[in-house]
Amino acid sequence: MTETNQTILSATARAEIDRWLTRYPADQKRSGVLQALMIVQTENGGWLTEEWVNAVADYLDMPRIAAYEVVSFYSLYNLKPVGRHVINVCTNISCMLSGSQKIVDHLKKRLEIGINETTSDGKFTLREVECLAACAAAPLFHIGKKYYENLNTEKVDAILKELE
Ligand code: FES
Repeated sequence: MTETNQTILSATARAEIDRWLTRYPADQKRSGVLQALMIVQTENGGWLTEEWVNAVADYLDMPRIAAYEVVSFYSLYNLKPVGRHVINVCTNISCMLSGSQKIVDHLKKRLEIGINETTSDGKFTLREVECLAACAAAPLFHIGKKYYENLNTEKVDAILKELE
């Protein structure tokens, strides 16, 4: 571990990452990269800076570029500040055929933002994502760890109200 990631990664984050690493062989620390990045992202208000991604890569003894590949591949990581609730609407084929565009349009209108934008009060960020592997419940979105399925505009309004 370098001095840099001792400073950047909090003691809490390092302890949590270490707990995850007990699941993998000692020489395969990089196997914990998804969880480690999520731990750091959560601790830092929902997004990752270059410095934090580098610190995670260094901590796991993996190339920094490999950590970036993970961050840029998965939509659950954010490289810029986001709202308290990130609404990830699936617009892939099954959801599209089940009305995801209507959901997206409704959210844009209700929140007065476009895709990849955040409301001025910092509450919501709206994003379109690829298949969330729950096609039978289309259309849907997820916010944090929760999936909201079989959506219609009335359900969306109720969910937004609940989160406000
Ligand atoms: S297409 Fe939307 S969950 Fe699969």
